[in-house]
Amino acid sequence: KKADNQLLVIFGASGDLTRRKLMPSLFELYVRGLLPKRFAILGASRSEYTDDTFRQQQREGIRRSAKGASYDDGQIDEFLRMIHYVSFEPTEYATYGNLKNRIGELLETLGSPDRVVYYLATPPVLYETIPAGLKEAGLNVAATKKGWRRIVVEKPFGTDLESARRLSELLRGVFEENGIYRIDHYLGKETVQNILVLRFSNGIFEPLWNRNYIDYVEISATETLGVENRGPYYESAGALRDMIQNHLLQLMAFVAMEPPAVFEPEPIRNEIVKVFRAIRRYTPAEIGRNVLRAQYTGCEIDGQYVPGYREEKNVAPDSTTETFVAMKLFIDNWRWGGVPFLFHTGKRLSKKQSEVVIHFKSTPTQLFSGQCSGRSCNKLTLRIQPDESISLKFGLKMPGAGLSVRQVSMDFRYDSLSSDYLPDAYERLLLDVMLGDSTLYARRDSLEASWQFIDPILRAWKQNPQRGLLTYPVLTEGPDPQQLLEDGNDRPDENCT
Ligand code: BG6
Repeated sequence: KKADNQLLVIFGASGDLTRRKLMPSLFELYVRGLLPKRFAILGASRSEYTDDTFRQQQREGIRRSAKGASYDDGQIDEFLRMIHYVSFEPTEYATYGNLKNRIGELLETLGSPDRVVYYLATPPVLYETIPAGLKEAGLNVAATKKGWRRIVVEKPFGTDLESARRLSELLRGVFEENGIYRIDHYLGKETVQNILVLRFSNGIFEPLWNRNYIDYVEISATETLGVENRGPYYESAGALRDMIQNHLLQLMAFVAMEPPAVFEPEPIRNEIVKVFRAIRRYTPAEIGRNVLRAQYTGCEIDGQYVPGYREEKNVAPDSTTETFVAMKLFIDNWRWGGVPFLFHTGKRLSKKQSEVVIHFKSTPTQLFSGQCSGRSCNKLTLRIQPDESISLKFGLKMPGAGLSVRQVSMDFRYDSLSSDYLPDAYERLLLDVMLGDSTLYARRDSLEASWQFIDPILRAWKQNPQRGLLTYPVLTEGPDPQQLLEDGNDRPDENCT
């Protein structure tokens, strides 16, 4: 389905997200013929660019993006002609007049479609300012019945429950609720959507997908990169807000939700919010037992010193911000009662990898030698990135005399599907907002329910910033999350390896 003709306005156009993700994704959509027939992009930010100098900057970003590299300059030129730029000072209401004029002109050249998507790719401090300015300038409502205005808000959507509510209220005072798109790029990943397809299009998994057969579920997203140049943001966010409140919880919702009656946005989002509402809220004592946090420390690796978190640019030398979190949580409902969900995420760990692992219960007794017992005998691994794949581990008879068992794995790799390429998460999500499909965007109630679980942990850490804060040397595994499944928490090795 092709989206209607429209204009996309990107605030924060001179920033990293626009150059690294949004423009390359829009370019891919263009190359694949998925953009509306008549379409324009208006970049808005403080920097002084002309249309030409801004296009030049975006050309570099597109060239650098791996997929963009396979297209020729001619195609990039054609795409760049759709891009325009306006300098814009978000806190000065006078400049909204300029913006209004540019939007008016561009809509005119598109044949007056009266349809505009605003994308907030700015630092979060502007999430309140810009919508308020748009309202004051009358840019928040369509002039015609067939027109619409939509707004995409990047994470972090609030820093706690109260601020998330305030932001939702503010946006609701400016846009219709169904015009507000809260983006979580994990939901745009093909392999994440495939969790739903795997579960709900096959008869063999669902009967086992519950507390009777599942021992525990592991959800992880680890990274090798540090905080790069995002020190100021990360200092106030930390791994809990940056990764768990949104990406990991959303993954969990896809793993844990009930099948919707129909595959449409609201029925799906209704099931997601039920999962979030059933997450057990922890008391301060339970937080101590079920949540681990840690920070990376510097080490010399191959003759080169890799700085620790406290040595990063714009990070306080005595910062207690966590760069790693492991936690065990429970969904108190009939399907999942008593099944631990084990999360972990961290920066500067030994590998970049995101996956969901379903650990099934083992057989009640062991009949064979070499048979796996205890946890993790049969596990289904859904690898989200890299090497997108699904694998199932089980025991088989070793060839020859006797009956001894060997654990083997049955693997499927996405790249074996065909030459079909795996679109970037932003391609999918940008296309969805243009089409008006909010299925893969977070709804206000589920977002607030997720903060209700996160808030007590933030409060406990704020009260005791040092207590329980572990360290791990850069590019190592970090604290072992499995210890949360055992009684008593072992301290990780804090020496450089
Ligand atoms: C972002 C976080 O939302 O997700 C980053 O702010 C993190 O800190 C990134 O690096 C990870 O995304 P991905 O798609 O690379 O796993």
